[in-house]
Amino acid sequence: AKSGTTGGRSSTSTSPPIATRNWSLLLTEGPPDPPSRLSKNDTVVVELKNSLLTENVAIHWHGIRQIGTPWFDGTEGVTQCPILPGDTFVYKFVVDRPGTYLYHAHYGMQREAGLYGLIRVALPPGVSEPFQYNYDRSIILNDWYHNSTYEQATGLSSIPFDWVGEPQSLLIHGKGSFDCSTPGIQSGLCNATNPECSPYVLTVVPGKTYRLRIASLTALSALSFQIEGHNMTVVETDGHYVEPFVVKNLFIYSGETYSVLITADQDSSRNYWAVTNVVSRNSTTPNGLAIFNYYPNHPKRSPPTVPPAGPVWNDVDSRINGHVRWSVNNVSFNLPHTPYLIALKHKLGHVFDQTPPPDGYDFVNYDISIQQPNVNATFSNSIYRLAFNSTVDIILQNANTMNPNNSETHPWHLHGHDFWVMGHGEGKFDMYSDPHKYNLVDPIMKNTVAVQPYGWTAMRFRADNPGVWAFHCHIESHFYMGMGVVFEEGIDKVGELPTSIMGCGDTRGGTFHKP
Ligand code: C2O
Ligand code: CU
Repeated sequence: AKSGTTGGRSSTSTSPPIATRNWSLLLTEGPPDPPSRLSKNDTVVVELKNSLLTENVAIHWHGIRQIGTPWFDGTEGVTQCPILPGDTFVYKFVVDRPGTYLYHAHYGMQREAGLYGLIRVALPPGVSEPFQYNYDRSIILNDWYHNSTYEQATGLSSIPFDWVGEPQSLLIHGKGSFDCSTPGIQSGLCNATNPECSPYVLTVVPGKTYRLRIASLTALSALSFQIEGHNMTVVETDGHYVEPFVVKNLFIYSGETYSVLITADQDSSRNYWAVTNVVSRNSTTPNGLAIFNYYPNHPKRSPPTVPPAGPVWNDVDSRINGHVRWSVNNVSFNLPHTPYLIALKHKLGHVFDQTPPPDGYDFVNYDISIQQPNVNATFSNSIYRLAFNSTVDIILQNANTMNPNNSETHPWHLHGHDFWVMGHGEGKFDMYSDPHKYNLVDPIMKNTVAVQPYGWTAMRFRADNPGVWAFHCHIESHFYMGMGVVFEEGIDKVGELPTSIMGCGDTRGGTFHKP
């Protein structure tokens, strides 16, 4: 999937083999359509065989609400036990809404090793979209590290803390490039002329309009995406139509999906660059490039222009026992060994922390702009228990990290629900005046939203989906470092759990160990 080095990753890596993109998983029940032809209310059956030698796996269906099937959400430690090497696990769920969704590994930091893809759900036959296009295409944007996820995870949990740093490349639909003359790169391991290293090509027919579904599954980076000389009209995000608006650059955060309309209405005698670049971090990562190819020009013909540079980049972590961790209300999240869904349904009260986490912080006195004098947070694997059918408001308040003058962008993803984005702003949320500025008329609905440095984002959802759901930062290393919480609602309404999700912690062998 990556270019510039042969074999995908450095030979110094000690990690076990990692399967890459060739996961043919989607099988549909009913009409034998290929996965890209899934329609609303189809049942998806995925038979996942873990052929990795030493590595567990679990796959999350990002944006699919799993109504009635919370046990197939695929979140290791929350809704299921990990799928062990050699085991086969069957996911079965209904795609109940049209739109653009994702699937990806949800075990440790495995997602960024390459287990991910896009799910497109079409409207039922006879129904049409509120916008028109000739062709439907998809691309996934990503970033890429040469270090394995295991090396990264080890660094993140070490003392002293070893941060993962900036990615080596940006990928457009699995392809990127890397400069093999970079100091420290062993010759023979890097081959920039490998044909697999040529940029991704998106071919268009002059005059036609394309619906381009763009998703980001970056491990770290916030991105801007643009196609040289072409505007994009945004029409959908995370499975919801939006009031169309025109952009030159699309800012996209990990876990988000967008549909944009692009008309191939420029000079058709040449090709154009498609570019991604990192925003919101002062990154050293080179821009990602792809070719927007006007048929019948040669798809590999480089555009005659210098790729557009993209916008400039600049438009709470805490320490526990010496480890650097992220915290939410000063609590850092840890997955328990017994998945919450099973523990709650089977009333295994002892397997996780019963103390409710704090549901707020000192709104009045907390200074978000400084390094906090007390950098000690606590670990917890406790959860927020929501009253079934209640309406929940969450204010994400971004504060200074443990480094001076630093606050970072975090895209937060909610499992099992969509939420309305009620408002967002700079600085500290004012609980008296800011709610009056909420958009109560036509707020956008999403499943992933970013909170900007030193800013706040307010969201609202209905706790109407019985189950146990993760809510976390979609940056792989941030979630690993504790940036997440878990919500429970209507556990008494959850049906009988399949035994296939069990087998770990206190659910071994299908029997439950109560103290
Ligand atoms: Cu796409 Cu819990 O994540
Ligand atoms: Cu984050």
